[in-house]
Amino acid sequence: MLDELFDLSLYQSLRALASGELAAILDRLIPIEARHFTFWQDFFGVRIGRLDLGRRLKLQLIVLACRLFGRSAIHLVLEAIVSKSGARSATGRGEQPCGAFWRTSSNTRTPS
Ligand SMILES: [Fe+2]
Repeated sequence: MLDELFDLSLYQSLRALASGELAAILDRLIPIEARHFTFWQDFFGVRIGRLDLGRRLKLQLIVLACRLFGRSAIHLVLEAIVSKSGARSATGRGEQPCGAFWRTSSNTRTPS
């Protein structure tokens, strides 16, 4: 569940840096990830208001790297999340839709 909140927080942070096609992709990913996060909170009957310290630091480092290196870094981060989502799905700990969405988007149009 913290992973879903991390992904949602990351998408929201990257959206502030993105433009064009990447911004449009993030605009579509954010509500999907928000639904995942809500689903898992409802499923387990708990509410999580913020990330733990480790994930907050990881988020800040990734956002800093994306600020420094721009569009290419954002693209790499999204690709990495797809891999992570696929791994979670394979182990039954995650859901496919957000990774599947990005795979479909990047297969049809490769962001530059
Ligand atoms: Fe998700």
